[in-house]
Amino acid sequence: MARPTTTYVCQSCGAQTRQFFGRCSSCGAWNSLVEQTAPASDTRRRRPVAADASAASPRQPRRSEPIAAVGERPLQRLGSGYGELDRVLGGGLVPGSLVLLGGDPGIGKSTLLLQSAEAMATRCSVLYVSAEESAQQVKLRWRRLAEGASEVEGEMGGEAPAPRAQVRAEAPESAGLQLLAETDLELVLQELEALRPAVAVIDSIQALHDGELSSAPGSVAQVRECAAALARIAKRQDTALLLVGHVTKEGMLAGPKVLEHLVDAVLTFEGDRFASHRLLRAVKNRFGATHELGVFEMRGRGLAEVSNPSELFLGSEEPSAGTATIVACEGTRPLVVELQALVSTTSYASPRRTATGIGTNRLHQILAVLEKHLGLPLSRFDCYLAVAGGLEVEEPAADLGVAAAVVASYRDLTLPPGTVLIGELGLGGQLRPVGQLELRLQEAARLGFTRAVVPKGSGLARLAAGLDLQLLEAGGVAEALVAALGVNPADDRA
Ligand SMILES: Nc1ncnc2c1ncn2[C@@H]1O[C@H](COP(=O)(O)OP(=O)(O)OP(=O)(O)O)[C@@H](O)[C@H]1O
Ligand SMILES: [Mg+2]
Repeated sequence: MARPTTTYVCQSCGAQTRQFFGRCSSCGAWNSLVEQTAPASDTRRRRPVAADASAASPRQPRRSEPIAAVGERPLQRLGSGYGELDRVLGGGLVPGSLVLLGGDPGIGKSTLLLQSAEAMATRCSVLYVSAEESAQQVKLRWRRLAEGASEVEGEMGGEAPAPRAQVRAEAPESAGLQLLAETDLELVLQELEALRPAVAVIDSIQALHDGELSSAPGSVAQVRECAAALARIAKRQDTALLLVGHVTKEGMLAGPKVLEHLVDAVLTFEGDRFASHRLLRAVKNRFGATHELGVFEMRGRGLAEVSNPSELFLGSEEPSAGTATIVACEGTRPLVVELQALVSTTSYASPRRTATGIGTNRLHQILAVLEKHLGLPLSRFDCYLAVAGGLEVEEPAADLGVAAAVVASYRDLTLPPGTVLIGELGLGGQLRPVGQLELRLQEAARLGFTRAVVPKGSGLARLAAGLDLQLLEAGGVAEALVAALGVNPADDRA
């Protein structure tokens, strides 16, 4: 019998060495090498699903062909039952694709996928593999979610329907969602082969365990091996696989980087611990755009879709000093968001600048532009800035809104109600054009805003007139703020 070989595997990058080092020579991470004893390769049991089906027959040489002559199959997509999830996936799940969903512990990954699996199970065969929780735990959640869904139906429908869980238990199609509580990869693969479901959920990839490897579940080798075996079977059977992945302390997906390369889409589910809304984003998507945003709200009885997220991020009804409203764009989705600023005399040698939801560097830059081009002595003031609703706004189109909120707080002014500000600030104090202005204006008008301050030369005067929106175009920050506030903020008597 061949001797087992010992290798050391970096838990950060997956590099393997025969010798132990305190620091990985590949990625430079400290203390990341873990000893792993693998049986010599000739003693490995051959797993039928792991073997390539074509391996048995002699390999046919494949010839290249002109790309125009390659046969096309229309891309079919399977609705996930949730419009918000479909939007992020690029229109639905593609058969045979692998989707990895990452997110902080307790954020609602299992809830989202169980709800979606349940919705899809009415149309196709779905297998839910729970490697983290027992069948009983999943059943309890399923019942809670089913009761929540029937409540929503009741609220919308008028007549009180029977609880959905009960209806399902009696109806013949209740066999739609299959549940398997198992951590052994071999058994999961066997079940996938036997059932050949259209969709399978694996919760989670880190909890699966390949008995052929001696390392612990969740280690780089295990995750890589389990994901590769699942990918092979998914491609062969045209099963769409939804994998749950853990994240590290820094919020990155745990496991080897190769996992992200292996899958077709990487989604992240994020949210504020203190707020009930959850945001779903695509970090990578081979079948759609990556900048789309899905918004959900966590309720006691599961996740509900938020189709009008702007209303979630709009703060108080009454405008107050130091608030400004912007229209941010997440992909093709415009979001009307309120910004709040507080400017107060500093009691420190260097003033404090704190920003929540916007990069502090961006705030520093905008304060410098205001100081230089409007002559406001902001370096003697502390400045705090927050985005309402806990949203992260990264795009520069928020600059003008930040400047307006800061100046309004400094001068103790209230912006006229119904005003939105859109524009990027250049270091020279000029207002730069932003993308998707048309979409942003339409969203603002839809929510009842009546004035929009935008960069000069937008060419959208006619659109704005049709939307009953007063369009105020400005070439620079000073001009824009005068238009927005109705007074000159650089004037000390303002
Ligand atoms: N009995 C319950 N009643 C109300 N809300 C609940 C209940 N159980 C769970 N929740 C909600 O669901 C959330 C947990 O969701 P879920 O288990 O789907 O998270 P997860 O991302 O899968 O977590 P993990 O990483 O631990 O698997 C909780 O944070 C809580 O808000
Ligand atoms: Mg879970």
